[in-house]
Amino acid sequence: MPKRVRTAVFPVAGLGTRFLPATKAMPKEMLTVVDRPLIQYAVDEAREAGIEHLVFVTGRNKGVIEDHFDRQFELEHTLEMRGKTEALRELQKDLPSAGQTSFTRQQEPLGLGHAVWCARELVGNQPFALLLPDMVFRARPGVLKQMMDAYEEFGGNIIGVEEVDPKDVSSYGIVARGEGKDEGFRITGMVEKPKPSEAPSNLFISGRYILQPEIFSLLSEQTRGAGGEIQLTDAMQILIRTQEFWGVQYRGKVFDCGSKLGFLTANVVMALDRPDLAGPFIREMKAALASIDETP
Ligand code: UTP
Repeated sequence: MPKRVRTAVFPVAGLGTRFLPATKAMPKEMLTVVDRPLIQYAVDEAREAGIEHLVFVTGRNKGVIEDHFDRQFELEHTLEMRGKTEALRELQKDLPSAGQTSFTRQQEPLGLGHAVWCARELVGNQPFALLLPDMVFRARPGVLKQMMDAYEEFGGNIIGVEEVDPKDVSSYGIVARGEGKDEGFRITGMVEKPKPSEAPSNLFISGRYILQPEIFSLLSEQTRGAGGEIQLTDAMQILIRTQEFWGVQYRGKVFDCGSKLGFLTANVVMALDRPDLAGPFIREMKAALASIDETP
């Protein structure tokens, strides 16, 4: 039996430049899809997968994330006084238990690999899950839960992957697929942003990982990669020489909410998933689309 995964790391220290000016004073991870912040989707997914310890790697301007996962007595009191018990219950359900969260700082946004390395003391010498909160999934069960099932069977390092149009591979980290099935296949290599003609597959790394702690010593070398940033993929490319990596082509679909197009699409799709919203939303959209003049 592989060692149990109890801890999840959420890197939330990036600058979110693609969403300026929205992200000037507010963290990107607090942008909402329908009525839930991006970070809440990732935390829900981790808790569904049985994660007990939530580690946030934050930066400046990110204090509101810490507040979001704290109790808000004034608000709770007001909801109670007004008899809004359902809203109160929902708020309490979203909250991790006391002592389940830890926060550390990445003082400078030197890249995803560096953000992960900043969590090393809080994670310790155990396997951990890594969730990029700007990647929001429509999946049941959640993607991390599906990956945990694979981890129990295979152990090692697990990476969630999804198919992308082959002409778009150059925007992503792509894995080379070895033997196995969708629920777990051997990863024989990975390459960051390949040209379509050089991509080993069209399976891209979509922001969910289960990693062994040996990744930390590789990240501690602080080697700068693409864009001058300390890249996680570079460290994984070294780790794969000595440890097994398994891919899971999960059942579900990712929305890259770090990009405007993905974020807008996620809002529409998630709204259509909500029984309280779908009908009226479709009516409003139909009316709005019918009234749009092609020339603004
Ligand atoms: P992105 O690659 O989307 O970068 O990070 P970003 O800085 O947030 O956004 P853009 O590209 O400037 O618009 C993916 C995840 O990794 C975190 C981000 O907060 C995001 O959740 N991250 C990235 C860090 O925590 N630290 C970093 O140095 C870089």
